[in-house]
Amino acid sequence: MRTHLNTAGAGLMSRRTVETMIEVLEAEQRDGAYETEQRYDDELNVALYKELGRLVNADPQDVAIFDSATRAWSATFGRLALRSGQRVIITPYEYAGNLMSLTTLQKRYGFRIEVMPLDGAGDLDLDWLRRSVDDDVALVSVPHVPSGCGIVNPVEEIGRILDGGDALYVVDGCQSVGQLPVDVGRIGCDLFTGAGRKFLCGPRGTGFAVASRRLRERLTPDLLDLHVADIDQHLDVAEHVSGARGLELAERSTAVFMGLLASLAEAPDPAGLDNGHLSTALAAELRTVDGVQVFDPGRRQSGITAFRHDRVPAARIAEELRAAGVNVWKIAGSHTPLYLLERDVTTAVRVSVHWYTTEADLTRFMNELRRILA
Ligand SMILES: Cc1ncc(COP(=O)(O)O)c(C=O)c1O
Repeated sequence: MRTHLNTAGAGLMSRRTVETMIEVLEAEQRDGAYETEQRYDDELNVALYKELGRLVNADPQDVAIFDSATRAWSATFGRLALRSGQRVIITPYEYAGNLMSLTTLQKRYGFRIEVMPLDGAGDLDLDWLRRSVDDDVALVSVPHVPSGCGIVNPVEEIGRILDGGDALYVVDGCQSVGQLPVDVGRIGCDLFTGAGRKFLCGPRGTGFAVASRRLRERLTPDLLDLHVADIDQHLDVAEHVSGARGLELAERSTAVFMGLLASLAEAPDPAGLDNGHLSTALAAELRTVDGVQVFDPGRRQSGITAFRHDRVPAARIAEELRAAGVNVWKIAGSHTPLYLLERDVTTAVRVSVHWYTTEADLTRFMNELRRILA
């Protein structure tokens, strides 16, 4: 039996999720793909939006579906019209893909990017934020949980600081949704993005955004696809579906989104999970190993821990663990560059736990790691 400690890459799908996708693919082969999609119309166009809305306490009208979290982020964020002289506040924990969209926009509009400082423990300096937010701040972007370490950022508290102001508030929930309770109403964000394949244990190729009406009203017009709009012989375009779905493309895999729906039905209530507890215990154990440096900034942890060794490269540790039946992931510092690369961490080993992780899994991991590093 393999021990899977790479949910932050992709979680393990359930048998039911896999069977759902197989059933859909078989129906497509037997009956035709468009015909199969029609049969699942209610699931794909109503239930999926309702379930995602329920998951994060959002209006289904604000939910849009994409094939990845990056697409969800860039399909919305990439269309924001900002102005030179405006300020965009990010954190050292921002994901590299988001930073790339951001720098593309910066080249276009010439706004200033400011990075929120951290306090001595690695938590975001919220006093700095309180002092810094003014009318020039166009947007504040915070990952709920970053890609390369398990800190849980205080997204609700930040929402309260921004409440009532004009700045848009963007939260990347790719690594939090499915393992932490998420309530976009309480967070008060304008954009929340997530991936289906990680802590929701859905299929690859699934992502979603929750985009508020306030955010949507500030987007530059862009492509509308045929599932939400019509065009006539005079080239007049009429949108016939309102809400965040206007951000999507029409073409998608029926099988993977039916798989996502199946995984949502089974996902345990995150309120009952405590991945942070397991990670904290694991980090303490890792610190007892000679030459290991753990990256677990901040006072509150989720199911992700990262570490490196002063002699054995991360790639070798990950490879040898895999050969011994334990999945972990070698991460690149450049994926969380403002935190990891800034500290000269070019690679590290990421270990991520979820509800299916047992004490025995962690013992196995630690035993194999000690053997590799001996
Ligand atoms: C924090 C964070 N945001 C965004 C992403 C991008 O997700 P996707 O690969 O689905 O585009 C990742 C991927 O690992 C991530 O960890």
